[in-house]
Amino acid sequence: MSTTEQLARDLAAARARTLLLTDHDEPELLRQHTPLLSPLVWDLAHIGQQEDLWLLRRGDARRPGLLPADVEALYDAFTHPRAVRARLPLLPPVEARSFCGEVRGRVLDRLERLGADDDPFDFAMVVSHEQQHDETMLQALNLRAGPPLLGAGAPLPPGRPGVAGTSVLVPGGEFVLGVDATDEPFSLDNERPAHVVDVPAFRIGRVPVTNAEYAAFVADGGYGDRRWWSERGWAHRVEAGLERPQFWSPEGTRTRFGVLEEIPPDEPVQHVTFFEAEAHAAWAGARLPTETEWEKAAVWDPAAGRRRRWPWGSSDPTPALANLDGTALRPAPVGAYPAGASAYGAEQLVGDVWEWTSSDFTAWPGFTPMLYADYSAPFFGGDYKVLRGGAWSVASSILRPSFRNWDHPIRRQVFSGFRLAWDA
Ligand code: AVJ
Ligand code: FE
Repeated sequence: MSTTEQLARDLAAARARTLLLTDHDEPELLRQHTPLLSPLVWDLAHIGQQEDLWLLRRGDARRPGLLPADVEALYDAFTHPRAVRARLPLLPPVEARSFCGEVRGRVLDRLERLGADDDPFDFAMVVSHEQQHDETMLQALNLRAGPPLLGAGAPLPPGRPGVAGTSVLVPGGEFVLGVDATDEPFSLDNERPAHVVDVPAFRIGRVPVTNAEYAAFVADGGYGDRRWWSERGWAHRVEAGLERPQFWSPEGTRTRFGVLEEIPPDEPVQHVTFFEAEAHAAWAGARLPTETEWEKAAVWDPAAGRRRRWPWGSSDPTPALANLDGTALRPAPVGAYPAGASAYGAEQLVGDVWEWTSSDFTAWPGFTPMLYADYSAPFFGGDYKVLRGGAWSVASSILRPSFRNWDHPIRRQVFSGFRLAWDA
């Protein structure tokens, strides 16, 4: 498949998903489920607005777009925080949809006749943006009260007994952190450039921490024992009244996309803040991995002395290798993907849950911003922790093991879990 064909396919897949996630009646799309997330109709029009800006105007906001300037301004994420978006005079859903369609028609014309100053990367960047908003919309739909809109999710492979709580050794030594455009042409700015780092030996969980392991921490009084928590973590726990992961009831059930169910013991825990992950790790006599450790465990092939494209090798993800693309609506039980193991034997690094790391979000040395220059740079050095690996909710077309997500350490509406690490 040519690059152009691939981009057309990825654009179409992203749009099909956007339309599916916004295929609800008008009041549903205008509802704000939480101050943490936008009403879905904002995400919808913002997806079109960004596509118009980056692909039809090459990022020059002074050039007129398809929306009047005052309407376009409503979709600037920096001027309007998520909490206030439902109060803006937003485009009604029907108009938002037709605006997105209009932009897409012109973008596809442009893709068919790529000019000298059109960069295929920018199209991939816009696909990534749309898919990331689709994931944000899933977060909103998960928080939504009321009967399920999305069903209970597609079936997943069974887990394997004996893998929870085990770890693998990653011997010390250099590896290549990050990627370059030559190997990963669609990698985003914050994943680049590739550079050599020396990583002391460490152990890392073979699989993410499970609900059963996390429940043991809760049952052991972990939420009431200050010694497991950082100072900030404890202050947040007290102030926010955290007692267990989000969506868990004290009776051992959870709510997921409107479905009430027993908490499956062997599934990776989801919906914990960085602070809760850190406290569980301390209680377990471990720590969180750094993002550098995480990436080495995921992609380094020590025998070959080079990176793999994916933990398992060079073939693209399939449903037998990883839980991705948003259809399951939940993580798979641990041990479900033995064929997806990395060279060091770690499993489920890609897909299932975003994994909190102990790293702050910073630029790799030699960082150069992409066309959408405010995607990463404004967030470097902020109050963010890096999450790795992508969750079940992430589109495989935009994910790579070098992909870096970030969020405030107090957030947990994200599909966030973690795995443990230890100095070796
Ligand atoms: C990379 C998920 C942190 O949602 O804030 C969407 C992605 N950036 N539009 C976010 C993003 C601009 C970003 N995260
Ligand atoms: Fe955005």
